[in-house]
Amino acid sequence: MPTAAANIGVVGLAVMGSNLARNLASREGNTVAVLNRSRAKTDDLVALHPEAGFVPTFSYEEFAASLQKPRTAIIMVKAGLGTDAVIDELVRVFEPGDIIVDGGNAYFPDTIRREKAVRETGINFVGAGISGGEEGALLGPSIMPGGSDESWVTLGPILESIAAVAEGEPCVTHVGHGGAGHFVKMVHNGIEYADMQLIAEAYDLIRRGTGRSPAEIADIFAEWNTGELESYLIEITAEVLRQIDQETGQPLVDVIVDQAGAKGTGAWTVQTALALGVPVSGIAEATFARSLSSHPEQRAVAAHLPGPEGEFTVDDVDAFIEDVRLALYASKIVAYSQGFDEIRAGATEYGWSIDLGAVAKIWRAGCIIRAQFLNRIADAYAAEPDLPALLTAPYFAEALSRGQASWRRVVIAAAQAGIPAPAFSSSLSYYDGIRAERLPAALIQGQRDFFGAHTYRRIDKEGTFHTLWSGDRTEIPAVDTH
Ligand SMILES: NC(=O)c1ccc[n+]([C@@H]2O[C@H](COP(=O)([O-])OP(=O)(O)OC[C@H]3O[C@@H](n4cnc5c(N)ncnc54)[C@H](OP(=O)(O)O)[C@@H]3O)[C@@H](O)[C@H]2O)c1
Repeated sequence: MPTAAANIGVVGLAVMGSNLARNLASREGNTVAVLNRSRAKTDDLVALHPEAGFVPTFSYEEFAASLQKPRTAIIMVKAGLGTDAVIDELVRVFEPGDIIVDGGNAYFPDTIRREKAVRETGINFVGAGISGGEEGALLGPSIMPGGSDESWVTLGPILESIAAVAEGEPCVTHVGHGGAGHFVKMVHNGIEYADMQLIAEAYDLIRRGTGRSPAEIADIFAEWNTGELESYLIEITAEVLRQIDQETGQPLVDVIVDQAGAKGTGAWTVQTALALGVPVSGIAEATFARSLSSHPEQRAVAAHLPGPEGEFTVDDVDAFIEDVRLALYASKIVAYSQGFDEIRAGATEYGWSIDLGAVAKIWRAGCIIRAQFLNRIADAYAAEPDLPALLTAPYFAEALSRGQASWRRVVIAAAQAGIPAPAFSSSLSYYDGIRAERLPAALIQGQRDFFGAHTYRRIDKEGTFHTLWSGDRTEIPAVDTH
């Protein structure tokens, strides 16, 4: 058995785990024990990176014996059954007070279940969302840990040492108890879906409206990346659009099959939002747009359906491009506002105390949605922690006001040209819905009362009412049945 030489261990040494283990090993004071189900990955990692000083182990007993107490292990294995299998083994060899961290992409209800079960053994369990892919894991990810305050005492300094740094601050915070970390990571991914879809719609509109080539549009995105839209996703969009396919000499974007894949976190975000009753229409449209793209058989039979007559051209190209930029920014504000609404609703539902401004701050570096813009969100929550809707904060309200005429022109142009812009248009509808003095929801309440006696409230007096629709249509006081 090895002596307890390591202060942290990693289980699961595929792409993410091996890079995270190297990141940990590169930080002052860390000695990292490593374990993988199949031996080869451990042997390869240790052989390829002697500088890391890894402590290789080949059984859970060896792994536990190699760790100082309280033992701390980060699991980076395939989410789902793999995670449960590793937790069972660690619980078998660990002791009360030790800490098990799941750094995989777990679905937050699984994390809630696991945390409860592991806590009963006296061992701490922390679900930690880790964003930034392979490069983030190696150089500094954005980390969203949940779990107990007790585990944060040991874990906090270790995670702070490996996280990305934004303006001198590590991109990690104790997000909240239980499954809060994986919940926040889930919404992060949902926002990522919306942001990517909005960028894709902006590209499509500019390309089809102005005839600019992908390389020319890359220049536009590169220019946008110097202003208020500055972000990793805008930056990589320019890179992708500039890329030429070596085989055909065509822009790479033109030879890639136009069917977007997904690993499910967008769908989780939308399903959870539906259950919480939070309208995350930008994320939902982005998720559905990927689904629509991925049904080639339906698209093939629908391809002959008529669109508008004539070519889509814009008269003033520069003005149109600026309209698209402003529409993109306005829609992005809506998508983020909706995502933060979902985090707030989740925190209320599950009893987590989540600092929304701190969440915005830890997304400023290391993760896919990293952007300057997140500073503005942090500022908004610092000024008003209980802000009911992010888009009403003065900075965002001003940006929406500045952009709304452009936003409307772009949505009109898309509709007239027959170009799908689901995220642009649904974000605009959300904006118009949330700011409306009166909504047709009143009519829906009337309809519900008509067919199901679901009752309604009145604007002019307290109480709940029902109209005797199949009787003499008088109104009677009623018990609220929603
Ligand atoms: N890839 C990314 O960009 C990214 C970003 C953020 C988060 N994540 C999350 O990070 C985690 C790791 O991702 P990854 O891409 O590095 O690896 P992965 O392909 O998701 O999983 C492979 C690893 O899981 C282990 N494993 C699978 N089933 C197991 C079981 N029943 N018992 C023990 N070990 C098992 C494998 O061991 P063997 O070698 O023995 O097969 C291997 O080490 C996942 O939860 C993933 O969703 C990934």
